[in-house]
Amino acid sequence: MPTLLPPTSPGVLRRTALAAVVMGAGWARAARPGVLLRFSHVVAPDTPKGRMVVHFQSLVHQRSAGRIRVEVHPDSRLWGDDEEIEALRLGAVEMLAPSLSKFGLAGVPEFEVFDLPFLFDDLAQVRRVTQGRVGRELLARLARQQMLGLGYLDNGFKHMSARRPLRRVADFAGLRVRVQASQVLSAQMRALGAQPVVLPFGDTERALAQGVVDASENPLSNFLTQGLARWQPHVTLTRHGYLGYAVVSHPRFWASLSGTDQTLVAGALEHALARGNQLAAELDQQAQATLRGMPGITVHEPTAAERMALREATQPVYQAVQRGPGAALLQAMQATT
Ligand code: LMR
Repeated sequence: MPTLLPPTSPGVLRRTALAAVVMGAGWARAARPGVLLRFSHVVAPDTPKGRMVVHFQSLVHQRSAGRIRVEVHPDSRLWGDDEEIEALRLGAVEMLAPSLSKFGLAGVPEFEVFDLPFLFDDLAQVRRVTQGRVGRELLARLARQQMLGLGYLDNGFKHMSARRPLRRVADFAGLRVRVQASQVLSAQMRALGAQPVVLPFGDTERALAQGVVDASENPLSNFLTQGLARWQPHVTLTRHGYLGYAVVSHPRFWASLSGTDQTLVAGALEHALARGNQLAAELDQQAQATLRGMPGITVHEPTAAERMALREATQPVYQAVQRGPGAALLQAMQATT
């Protein structure tokens, strides 16, 4: 298998920087008075998450008259998937919005229930879970791993992309598919006969270019803004899984804010998340139109029977979840939806 990352890749440099934080070198904190809030994420600025964070930045700036500064670091430039939660715990960043799939590795595996294939039919069902009792209780569980859960954001539904059309279960046989670090997502790919390859989001394009993986799954905004279309001319609109985020901070940072600032930041975030959730649906529609007009890209619409066959093939993943730490949560989610 080809080597994926040269020794001076951004990921390696970031891990070295994180080691420096661990060893006490820390960061030079702003000499300016006021509050600095670094918000790091791994996607492009022109995505639901990228736009939500910029909206949050401008609301905080306005409402605090510039006293609270939000620094936005997109595209894994400050921290990538492999380091961001550790960086939050170490105080090297104040806010993140990892996908729900990434909290399993951080010690809260219940979140991986959201990764179950064909769990939600539409975003209204997701909203009933995230905005209700189940969603609130889940956010509270992040405290177990030194995270303060502040709210949810949608991206949308994932689709499959590859060098070849993927419509039938047999098309997945032997395919190396990049997935996020979620046991449920790996199990989903194995159930389809594919080989899951866990990689940080920021390494996906390079892995496709180098032939380390053959396929990937993501909502269309991520597919387009990461340049994945260069390597994957076939997109199948499977809508087979949900991708959303939880915005998190660190309890210690939060406690360092005055009560007034906590209210200000939480209020701005609530507003930005509501706008971001609206935008997510709009951007998804726009991305579909863009994709259909792209030269060299073939968009496949699976038939109802093809989708049903994919759904049936992935049923063993549900059985595995029903035996694990997410069983009660799955039951509660199904009751809610
Ligand atoms: C991925 O890693 O595939 C996505 O979750 C990235 C993101 O944050 O949307």
